[in-house]
Amino acid sequence: MEKTVITAKGLTKKYGEFVAVDGIDFAIQSGECFGFLGPNGAGKTSIMKMLTCISPVTEGELVVDGRDVRREQRAIKMGLGVVSQADSLDPDLTVFQNLVSYGRYFNLPADVGRQRASEALELFQLAERSHQKPDELSGGMRRRLLIARALLHDPNILVLDEPTTGLDPQTRLLVWERLVQFKDRGVTILLTTHYMEEAAYLCDRLVVMDRGAILVEGPPRDLIRSHVGENVLEMQVSLSEKQAVVDSLSERGIDFEDRGDSLFFYGNNVDGLEEDTSFAEYRLVRRPANLEDVFLRLTGRGLREE
Ligand SMILES: Nc1ncnc2c1ncn2[C@@H]1O[C@H](COP(=O)(O)OP(=O)(O)O)[C@@H](O)[C@H]1O
Ligand SMILES: [Mg+2]
Repeated sequence: MEKTVITAKGLTKKYGEFVAVDGIDFAIQSGECFGFLGPNGAGKTSIMKMLTCISPVTEGELVVDGRDVRREQRAIKMGLGVVSQADSLDPDLTVFQNLVSYGRYFNLPADVGRQRASEALELFQLAERSHQKPDELSGGMRRRLLIARALLHDPNILVLDEPTTGLDPQTRLLVWERLVQFKDRGVTILLTTHYMEEAAYLCDRLVVMDRGAILVEGPPRDLIRSHVGENVLEMQVSLSEKQAVVDSLSERGIDFEDRGDSLFFYGNNVDGLEEDTSFAEYRLVRRPANLEDVFLRLTGRGLREE
């Protein structure tokens, strides 16, 4: 039986008059990896901050592990592993001490704290760095340390705000592998991202967000299939030729998305165009549809544009 561990109803965050999160609903099941995919400014961090009791809910309901975020903040915080977007390591402590001191906050006995810290450093390939200060680490190492720290008290819910933004591909892969391991052990994972590959790889279900609102919700494959189709055709046209092509497509009632020096075609239009001799002079590339296409179809913009 699935058990709901986090429920939001009409969840709203305002900063003064500005509405950053606009009355959203979601329900997260125990053991799933649930994603919030959206561009900068979508409201992802605001949601994470309300969930982790860093920032108050303006309106609506938010229940984490059966507890209301307005009333049981301490208990909620004790049960969550949190990796925020901001780096919050103590610069005066070594890597190892950063973990041990975090363990104390969660009331871990000293020997358990030290044991878990050693294991966590091993798991995140940081054992050789344990006596260095955070300032001596690369960005990727610091992020690994933040994730290791969030797991130190063995939380059953892990909340990660853009866990791999700015990381090199190798570190990103290590983080992904570790998150999959924790999911396999039954840890519920919430993550925000603007990387569609990350959302597609890790998430059982996700919401696609824009400007404080949820546009669609579902498993990545289902969202792609229902909003885009299996494949996308990209037609590469020079800017000077584009207008003529666009006019011809519009005349014939063929739907497309204009992406600058390429046009994207979806759904039923994909098959017809490859055989269509009137476009034979343009390079057509067929590729599998992805979550970026979903966002594009819903908003007319890309995930990485402002
Ligand atoms: N403390 C704040 N005061 C005023 N506006 C804010 C504050 N924090 C975030 N915002 C605004 O709220 C919107 C959503 O921000 P945020 O939740 O950080 O989005 P995301 O994490 O998806 O990039 C943005 O337009 C941002 O500028
Ligand atoms: Mg953010």
